[in-house]
Amino acid sequence: MNQIAQSASLNKPGASCALTFLRGFVANPAAVGSPLATSSNTVRRMLQPVEWDRVRTLVEFGPGVGTFSREVLRRLPRSATLIAIDTEVGFIDHLRATIDDPRLVAVHGSACDARQIIDGLGNDGADHILSGIPFSTLDEATGDEIVACAAQMLRPGGLFMAYQVKLALEPLLHRHFDEVERARQWLNMPPFHLWWARTAT
Ligand SMILES: C[S@@+](CC[C@H](N)C(=O)[O-])C[C@H]1O[C@@H](n2cnc3c(N)ncnc32)[C@H](O)[C@@H]1O
Repeated sequence: MNQIAQSASLNKPGASCALTFLRGFVANPAAVGSPLATSSNTVRRMLQPVEWDRVRTLVEFGPGVGTFSREVLRRLPRSATLIAIDTEVGFIDHLRATIDDPRLVAVHGSACDARQIIDGLGNDGADHILSGIPFSTLDEATGDEIVACAAQMLRPGGLFMAYQVKLALEPLLHRHFDEVERARQWLNMPPFHLWWARTAT
């Protein structure tokens, strides 16, 4: 494990993360979608197919308090970047305050603007995209725009990985990706659906 991954800033999320997450949910239940952050078992399973040594840029939609972000940073090569985009400014402030890692770029904004955000940061695309956005609470046009933009931003062979309570995302993925795999994840409260989608190369 490299020096960065051993740093204290990547410790597992603790009570302050849980409280910040719950506050975010109370302030905006539709956008946050769940009062509890994702379980560590779900995080490991979701990230399992990623070939980490090939990743240069990973984009995360809806990092919340960084449950996935911390695990991504543990696995990410030293020279790679994690661009984490969230609409809740409190979550972005929390990420910046609790994760001291030069590979993390935490951006207050919407996944709808992901293309402009990553272009503005000098990236020409994403190797993989990870999404925690609750698509069931978005209107279909917005959800469709986010998934279409994600499919365009991904480099050849890149995965769009998503976790959700409901199945609203499924038709959007079939519309914009060639291959869509779904699994049920019971070891999460509430249980999730997990998706891995990609475009044929
Ligand atoms: C279910 S929470 C997931 C949080 C965290 N990744 C986890 O696993 O516990 C959904 C997150 O998506 C964010 N979100 C909702 N709509 C968004 C959008 N359009 N763009 C970016 N983030 C969004 C919320 O603020 C929240 O942080």
